[in-house]
Amino acid sequence: KEILLKDYKKPAYLFDTVDLRFQLGEDKTIVSSKIFALPRIEGVSCPLVLHGHDLKLLSIKVDGKELKKEEFQLDVRHLTLASPPTSAFTLEIVTEMYPQNNTSLEGLYKSSGNFCTQCEAEGFRKITYYQDRPDVMAKYTCRIEADKTLYPVLLSNGNLIEHGDLEDGKHYALWEDPFKKPSYLFALVAGQLESRDDSFVTCSGRKVSLRIWTPSHDVPKTAHAMYSLKAAMKWDEEVFGLEYDLDLFNIVAVPDFNMGAMENKSLNIFNSKLVLASPETATDADYAAILGVIGHEYFHNWTGNRVTCRDWFQLSLKEGLTVFRDQEFSSDMGSRTVKRIADVSRLRTYQFPQDAGPMAHPVRPHSYIKMDNFYTVTVYEKGAEVVRMYKTLLGSSGFRKGMDLYFKRHDGQAVTCEDFFAAMRDANDADLSNFLLWYSQAGTPHVKVTSSFDPDARTYTLRFSQEVPPTPGQPVKEPMFIPVAIGLLDSSGKDMPLTTVYNDGVLQMIASSNQPVFTTVLQVKKKEEEFVFSDIPERPIPSLLRGYSAPVRLDSDLTGSDLFFLLAHDSDEFTRWEAGQVLARKLMLSLVADFQQKKTLVLNPKFVDGIRTILCNSTLDKEFIAKAITLPGEGEIMDMMAVADPDAVHAVRSFIKKQLALQLKKEFLTTVIDNRSSGPYDFNHHDMARRALKNTSLAYLASLDEPELTELALHEYKSATNMTEQFAALTAIAQNPGQVRDDVLSDFYSRWQHDFLVVNKWFALQAMSDIPGNVVNVQKLLNHPAFDLRNPNKVYSLIGGFCGSPVNFHAKDGSGYKFLGEIVLLLDKLNPQVASRMVSAFSRWRRYDETRQALAKAQLEMIMSANGLSENVYEIASKSLAA
Ligand code: ARG
Ligand code: ZN
Repeated sequence: KEILLKDYKKPAYLFDTVDLRFQLGEDKTIVSSKIFALPRIEGVSCPLVLHGHDLKLLSIKVDGKELKKEEFQLDVRHLTLASPPTSAFTLEIVTEMYPQNNTSLEGLYKSSGNFCTQCEAEGFRKITYYQDRPDVMAKYTCRIEADKTLYPVLLSNGNLIEHGDLEDGKHYALWEDPFKKPSYLFALVAGQLESRDDSFVTCSGRKVSLRIWTPSHDVPKTAHAMYSLKAAMKWDEEVFGLEYDLDLFNIVAVPDFNMGAMENKSLNIFNSKLVLASPETATDADYAAILGVIGHEYFHNWTGNRVTCRDWFQLSLKEGLTVFRDQEFSSDMGSRTVKRIADVSRLRTYQFPQDAGPMAHPVRPHSYIKMDNFYTVTVYEKGAEVVRMYKTLLGSSGFRKGMDLYFKRHDGQAVTCEDFFAAMRDANDADLSNFLLWYSQAGTPHVKVTSSFDPDARTYTLRFSQEVPPTPGQPVKEPMFIPVAIGLLDSSGKDMPLTTVYNDGVLQMIASSNQPVFTTVLQVKKKEEEFVFSDIPERPIPSLLRGYSAPVRLDSDLTGSDLFFLLAHDSDEFTRWEAGQVLARKLMLSLVADFQQKKTLVLNPKFVDGIRTILCNSTLDKEFIAKAITLPGEGEIMDMMAVADPDAVHAVRSFIKKQLALQLKKEFLTTVIDNRSSGPYDFNHHDMARRALKNTSLAYLASLDEPELTELALHEYKSATNMTEQFAALTAIAQNPGQVRDDVLSDFYSRWQHDFLVVNKWFALQAMSDIPGNVVNVQKLLNHPAFDLRNPNKVYSLIGGFCGSPVNFHAKDGSGYKFLGEIVLLLDKLNPQVASRMVSAFSRWRRYDETRQALAKAQLEMIMSANGLSENVYEIASKSLAA
């Protein structure tokens, strides 16, 4: 059943308070709820529809009186009271449920012996009957009763107000959350856990206790998470003036979790891979992800919890905004440019394909079958880009004013994306014209720019045209409001001061006399539009879309030599990197054409020189260099082809990699040697940049499969004192099939078999391998004792990893498709959310040649014909087939 945004209706009843009591048991759990309810319009009686799923109803009372069979109606998803009282009443419901059998990891479930919950989006209905929607906000208390030995720690939201012993070796804890919240923010944890304790003094001088809970042996690995939490609390005060609002903040790490983490009020629950880290077991990327996600969930306390969403269509209101906030936090803690490059790469690699495929949807979707399918890169990452555009248009202080007004107006409310837009607009008296289209139109806008210089008039003209491609359900699009940050470089590579710009003849920008302006933001709003810069002494090279000021695909008439010039000189490091990427994309596409025509591949020497110059430029940030010498991914190139050809793209990318390695061998060797270090591991930008550059260089060298280079990689593997370098060396070696590879892989497993997070890296590395016929290895690994289809991390590593190798997943014999098709059906029985993430790998099947299309389609049809398919998988598979 499809749910539509336009069908939104306010809830019939308001819930004021909710008192929950959990009697946790080994074979059943009893949940009693007492709700103080009132009709939204006093005196009006209408049915009260409560959501509920996989629950056994034991009793239901209104104002203390047990309801008779005919006074309520029960179906598999609802409990309906036909005519509840027309004024305030209490509703008491007792249900029974079986967390130990809950493999969906939604609602209340068990993870390695402990109880925990995941309610967003609609999991609370698997705990008790409730109006399970975000615009129903109530104050909660939660009493937990459980065996004291098995579950010594009992946690829920808010403050602990009472605890004590009960009969039969049981104990209880009573929690009270003083803030009103929607049901999706409810959480409960019970188990054998220990905590790392710390505290944070807020800007107004309140001392907040911080606790990070894990099984006792993992407590040492929570130091970085605690550092991240304190940094996030401080950052939110400094940058947004937002202070934490309770005296306690808990984080719990669990090994079985569908997503990354969850922002439940004062009781964040995390996938353990986003909490646990030590230098020996976690990479720089893991450390960075922990920093970002700890920040993300903490920031939700204001953007998500204090101000929440009216309905699930508004998800980006909290997620886009909170991703933007965590990106800014990570930028401020590390390198802004490098973070921006990483975020844009992510958008291109994952969001652009989604926006161009059958699952394309606006940042605010118009409809869904299963909300869980809309926790997407579009809602999150493109949503964050939309928030970033406000900041680009309004400036830092204007953006902050908008945020302040947003909280002033909406604290304690459940609101919409328009409310956020209105706060930004009103706080700045800004004309944001048709900016709201970013929320309603799907598809990545395609912007084309051409330029001309008039030496006599000393004017430089940029002509823009834009086109938003059709997407399912949206054949025709309006032009968007696109902020294009731009600078102009003179022939020495310096930024020209910009004085005046005319937009279609109207003066748009003028620099004040004393402050030279080097970057300005053009507001492109029409299908075709022209900007004229005056007082331009010589033909400039334009640096377009600085900082990636809008989530668009940009085509310009810049020549190869313009791009090399930008790569060498642009003062904006993002566009500098981008110039190299545009060159690389063009080069790869032309070599792909050569490959398809069976021509011999030759690498343009200018490209090699460009890479050499960057690699050897000691004034550049090392992580920037690492990013600048990394070729665009295979997916990115396939995305630009009329018919995606995974074999050709793979062959070309490998060819360029090896050519670079061959021709820059000396430089890469020096880079590896110069960037070794014997000091202890530390998470700081300088060291991480050094490791990134060393590891990227090592991967190039090892791709040559020459004995002395493999020897070098082996040396790095053996001498590594941290996981970043150890795993990078392993990855470098694992590029080439053979005995060395097999030996090192098995050495790595035997060293780390006791550590589940490291073993997942080992699964992923093998699964993602481009070695021909790798499906057989992956099939074998399914039966490895360390693998378990019920654990999402393991599935994402092994199955998700496999789908990340285009050559193997899209193998022309259909073996990859068949493998995935079968797994999806097995997974769907256990965990529909995970199954539906996996089935998404099929969604772009129409991008490939006819043979592949037929094979992938057959798998989708096979899935669709299965009995008892979940709504999650049904939605993705059916939409993939339909579009
Ligand atoms: N709100 C969580 C976050 O921080 C994600 C919850 C995802 N839940 C789901 N059912 N997909 O982004
Ligand atoms: Zn979030």
